[in-house]
Amino acid sequence: LDNGLAETPPMGWNDWNAFGCSVDQQLVEQTADTLVSTGMRDAGYQYVNIDDCWALPDRDVNGNLVADPQKFPDGIAKLADYVHARGLKLGIYEDSGTRTCSKSGGFPGSLGHEQQDARLFADWHVDYLKYDDCNVPADGQNVDATIARYKAMRDALTGHGIVFSICEKTDFGVPNSAWPTVGNLWRTTGDIHDNYARMVSLFHTNVTLPDLAGPDHWNDPDMLEVGNGGMSDVEYRSHFALWAEMAAPLIVGTDVRTMSAATKEILTNREIIAVDQDPLGAQGRPVSSANGLWVLTKPLVDGSRAVTLFNETDAPATITTTAGQVGLGKAFDYEVRDLFAHTTSESAGRITAALPAHASAMYRISPSRRLAQPHVVVGLSAV
Ligand code: DGJ
Repeated sequence: LDNGLAETPPMGWNDWNAFGCSVDQQLVEQTADTLVSTGMRDAGYQYVNIDDCWALPDRDVNGNLVADPQKFPDGIAKLADYVHARGLKLGIYEDSGTRTCSKSGGFPGSLGHEQQDARLFADWHVDYLKYDDCNVPADGQNVDATIARYKAMRDALTGHGIVFSICEKTDFGVPNSAWPTVGNLWRTTGDIHDNYARMVSLFHTNVTLPDLAGPDHWNDPDMLEVGNGGMSDVEYRSHFALWAEMAAPLIVGTDVRTMSAATKEILTNREIIAVDQDPLGAQGRPVSSANGLWVLTKPLVDGSRAVTLFNETDAPATITTTAGQVGLGKAFDYEVRDLFAHTTSESAGRITAALPAHASAMYRISPSRRLAQPHVVVGLSAV
């Protein structure tokens, strides 16, 4: 969606993965404070996003949505002020059907109320809307009807400076050229779960869609589970590296108030964040993936490449590629920056890593001395 609001993939936090329906004002405020005190804001995490279950079950007499006063005693507008005062932005959640997704019966959806709800969010100074797709009319489950529902909210949001995050459920994994003109980001998969197999299956789908991604329009393989306890730190490092390699939105889904040092180190790895946020906005592509040994390459704006080697398998493995295979031109040698170890080495072109099961290495590779001209070795020319 060409609105200039997501020139790089959105970064922030959302309560759903760690808290489900238990969202409230205190959690949002404390999270905003923690994003600042931990340096996460300064590392790029900008949005503090409220997911489902923030509203009362019914609209008011004027048809307006109402924040549940038990959960949000000061209301959303005040909460936006609180978040803005800390140099952050506030996100909220709605649904394109008649009710939201939450199992507890749901909350009012925006179907038929798109203009009114968009105006309300704008009045509250909300900066980001995640728009779900539950409880849609029986004849509305096909792709065309879904696109029409999403366009109605897109149009209602126009001019309000609100990032539009699409969470439709009709065509996951199917390249659909409509989405880049409707949303700033759109889900390409069902929900993530905090386990390795699920994370990998979302990666498998999202990695096939690089042609759809670019500035202001990103594939969204769902929010991060890093820190939630269902994967090892090795697996969480792979999760984070793969999402960054794919230029995915980096929406943290853990309780940052209590996160471990290892979780914080993964989430604030600035060299990996820089790959995700590279202004070229290219999604990384697979070079090879035979037997679950992945080589991915992402062109970066300075001409270098971000290369992720991912050992998807359950056994240790060595993965090897070359500068040529990852798309770099010929050079005498290459500078290889290890984005986890934060060390630099030189290579004549071979890139290799011995990786434990489920582990990844991530490198930023640039030619260090280019081959300027074809070589003439003086004294050895055949005369
Ligand atoms: C489904 C979405 O995919 C989740 O991320 C979350 O927003 C829930 N709905 C909320 O009900």
